[in-house]
Amino acid sequence: MGLFITLEGPDGSGKTTTMRLLEEKMKQSGIDFIKTREPGGSPISEKVREIVLGIGNEEMDPRTEALLIAGARRQHVVEKIRPALQAGKTVLCDRFIDSSLAYQGAGRGIGIEEVLNINLFAVGETLPDITFYLDVDAATGLERIAASRGREINRLDKEDISFHDKVQKGYKEIMAMFPSRFKRIDANRTPDEITDEILKLILERLS
Ligand code: TMP
Repeated sequence: MGLFITLEGPDGSGKTTTMRLLEEKMKQSGIDFIKTREPGGSPISEKVREIVLGIGNEEMDPRTEALLIAGARRQHVVEKIRPALQAGKTVLCDRFIDSSLAYQGAGRGIGIEEVLNINLFAVGETLPDITFYLDVDAATGLERIAASRGREINRLDKEDISFHDKVQKGYKEIMAMFPSRFKRIDANRTPDEITDEILKLILERLS
């Protein structure tokens, strides 16, 4: 089985830049991997992403949101993640189950345990081997969210500060629940420093 790696972080943690640089560095290191993302990652799941993140679906109920994302995740796991892992490839996934625990469980207030349960039903045995959490100061994260308001805005970006605050606190709780899987990465540094540290940890795991 290949190594299943996920990258997590609140909005404003620099995750998009980190993913891009990390992908380049993993290629240069000769790692046999696929890169994918959530919500989405497979054709059906990308359609669900449009529904979940689309501006205009503001009346969506929090549990509907959690279930749709878990459904998209199931399809992504079956169609793409599991086959790649079974073929011995490393899978690098931009967000996974922990985003649901943080955003729907903590942010929306459904509860981390409840959201974990529906997600375990969705993914079965397919859980990440290692999860990098981009940890950024709350103030820096919020500044970055404000600064990036010009780019593609999704329905969750539009949530207020208190939502993002709950998400960050949720992540801390989730890290404490799964200490052996999580690696906290100090994201208050340059993109190169961040990705070099992550790459080093990946190469250690693969060797
Ligand atoms: P992105 O900006 O990293 O592509 O993430 C899209 C948004 O989707 C982000 O605001 C977090 C949200 N999200 C959830 O709320 N729950 C989830 O399970 C996932 C994967 C993402």
